[in-house]
Amino acid sequence: MTIQEIQQEILRMKKEQDVCILAHAYQGQEILEVADYMGDSYGLSVQGAKSKCKGMIMCGVRFMAETCKVLSPEKKVWLANPSAGCPMAEQLDLEGLRKLKAEHPDHTVVAYINTTSELKTECDVCVTSSSAVQICSKIENDKILFIPDPNLGRFVSEKLPEKSFVFYKGGCPRHIVVSAKDVEKARKAHPEALLLVHPECRQEVVEQADYIGSTTGIIDYAKKSDAKEFIIGTENSIVEHLQFACPDKQFYPLSVMLTCMNMKITTLMDIYNCLKGTGGEVIELPQDIVDGAGRCIHRMVELGG
Ligand code: 13P
Ligand code: SF4
Repeated sequence: MTIQEIQQEILRMKKEQDVCILAHAYQGQEILEVADYMGDSYGLSVQGAKSKCKGMIMCGVRFMAETCKVLSPEKKVWLANPSAGCPMAEQLDLEGLRKLKAEHPDHTVVAYINTTSELKTECDVCVTSSSAVQICSKIENDKILFIPDPNLGRFVSEKLPEKSFVFYKGGCPRHIVVSAKDVEKARKAHPEALLLVHPECRQEVVEQADYIGSTTGIIDYAKKSDAKEFIIGTENSIVEHLQFACPDKQFYPLSVMLTCMNMKITTLMDIYNCLKGTGGEVIELPQDIVDGAGRCIHRMVELGG
């Protein structure tokens, strides 16, 4: 079968079965072409909560599929490729969290959405890169324990100097490999280009950026900007999507290292196999996890809206 034939068959089956396809912005172009919705982690959560379809296929990583299941427990939710996990989501377990909470008992626990559902059951609220500043600003307590990404946490803390933050030592293994040297090299090669970066990058990178935002924040900024050239400091699929969307502009990767293998593992055939009933993973979560993580995720949707 050709790519186009597989896409046609996916479109036919998803309509017949009343299933919608949600794709994170880091997915490949051929997947975005069959998706009902493409967005960042926050947008996918909102979509997961309000979808009217009987089922949803998540083309992204495990915590994204779990978030959709928690928000719509009555629906069938697939993770298109069961191997797609986010290493950052596994960096802190319940035991480690309990220890941190015991050390900082008067802090509100804010979890980046890139955490397991189990961990979220013992957190107060979760946030995404696009909603973190707004949500933290609405928290009444001025003491925040921010887990697990200290780079996103620092970015938020700089916007909210009236609050005090404690961070964990996690982080995205892809974004943290980019350094000030990569910025220097890219700026030298493309002196007219604006630098757009994700807040998961290190401080030495973020402080040199012209714009800092989530994946869809970066896409929207580049589309609206009058500038003609951009260096993209997040997963390199965004370079490709922007180049398709804005053929009159030029987009350059900040680093070849910005490739998330977990996001890249999902293929068109994984979606096809979910719909055929021969692949993917149907997400099942125990009721106590749905209830506990649900409290934390629903609070994010309430405060982030
Ligand atoms: P966004 O919320 O910006 O989509 O980020 C998700 C992610 O995993 C970034 O690495
Ligand atoms: Fe996780 Fe980083 Fe991949 Fe995003 S880019 S899914 S944070 S490993």
